[in-house]
Amino acid sequence: MANLKVDFLGMHFPNPFMLASGPPTRTAAMIRRAFAAGWGGAVTKTILFQPTPDHQPRLQAHRNEGRNIGMENIEVLSQLSVAQWQKDLAELKAAYPERPVWASLAASDKDEWIRLSEILQETGIDALELNVSCPHGMPDCGMGAFIGQNAELTGQVVAWVKSVAKIPLIVKLTPNVTDITFVAKAAQNGGADGLCASNSVASLNGIDLDTLDPTPSVGGFSIYGGYSGPGIKPIALRCVAKIAKATGLPISGLGGIDEWRDTIEFLAVGAATVQLCTAVMWRGYGIINDLLSGLNGYLDQKGYPDIQSILGVALPKIVDFPSLPLTWRVQAQVDETCTGCLDCVTSCNDSGFQAIRGTKGKPVTIDASRCDGCGLCLMVCPQDSIRLVSR
Ligand SMILES: Cc1cc2nc3c(=O)[nH]c(=O)nc-3n(C[C@H](O)[C@H](O)[C@H](O)COP(=O)(O)O)c2cc1C
Repeated sequence: MANLKVDFLGMHFPNPFMLASGPPTRTAAMIRRAFAAGWGGAVTKTILFQPTPDHQPRLQAHRNEGRNIGMENIEVLSQLSVAQWQKDLAELKAAYPERPVWASLAASDKDEWIRLSEILQETGIDALELNVSCPHGMPDCGMGAFIGQNAELTGQVVAWVKSVAKIPLIVKLTPNVTDITFVAKAAQNGGADGLCASNSVASLNGIDLDTLDPTPSVGGFSIYGGYSGPGIKPIALRCVAKIAKATGLPISGLGGIDEWRDTIEFLAVGAATVQLCTAVMWRGYGIINDLLSGLNGYLDQKGYPDIQSILGVALPKIVDFPSLPLTWRVQAQVDETCTGCLDCVTSCNDSGFQAIRGTKGKPVTIDASRCDGCGLCLMVCPQDSIRLVSR
């Protein structure tokens, strides 16, 4: 069995899987159940001095053909008081001293950031995760993405907390910026020990076709929310890769991780631990079993002895456009499993190079001299009958 242990800023994780700040970490009692199930660590729901009531409803799925492919939320931060968290976190750490717990916090001015950091670190938690990234909770009060969308302000907030921090300080970044590396570097210059990317992607989930109300509809009204789940994985993966290259800081990666395969991708672009929120909301703490066995099986099958062996290995292969070789040429090739549905013929005719011909019900043929190796036919083939081969 491969070694799944991770050392992150002096914290020892039994495995890289953490619960992200959100509904699965709403209370310490819930985190305890997750630890009992096998989760390696957890980040609390974001704690603040003045809890704001949540709206109803505040969650809505983004569906395609009846399947959830993402979710928008307009949920704000923890509903529990700081005093409640103080008591609960101390008890949680006493029960699970070996399982890293990060307190996520948000505040709106210097005094609050400092006081809250001081209070929380006294509970025995292992790290502080600064939430400067929530798209809707609550930029209007100078919190969340209001800070994280401004590099200077981010550096300033980090420096305030750093001035009192006795434990590692991790900054959770927003993907809703022009270039996340500016904000990541500002956090690093302010004294961040580690980074977390990313929070949800700003969105407007939909419009109700009956009423033309924006959704999720709170009595006919809505706000721009935060999109999470499988749909944001490519965006989050890019954020992690960019900040890993730009800062070299330890990173906790998240955004759209739905199964163990996604985890490997985040590790390969430099995330030492990974966090999950939406997948747990949809399928519960029990998914940890598949995550652990999938990751273990992959490492064993590939002959990697530990997580460290794949950490950041994809980063040097993410290059600038001029460095991509134009000498690498491929062409599409169809195999005998083709049923002649002709979906690839339609796509290639109307958005490609008119390289595929066929008759309904018979395998298609591909004219190599016309094929431009773009890859469109592969993605529309319902049979997985087409491959790209080297020319
Ligand atoms: C309903 C909901 C509430 C969330 N609350 C918080 C929060 O309090 N603090 C925070 O930092 N992130 C919060 N998040 C963001 C998640 O931690 C995570 O960054 C985001 O959902 C992307 O990860 P995922 O695709 O695994 O869900 C919340 C997400 C959801 C869906």
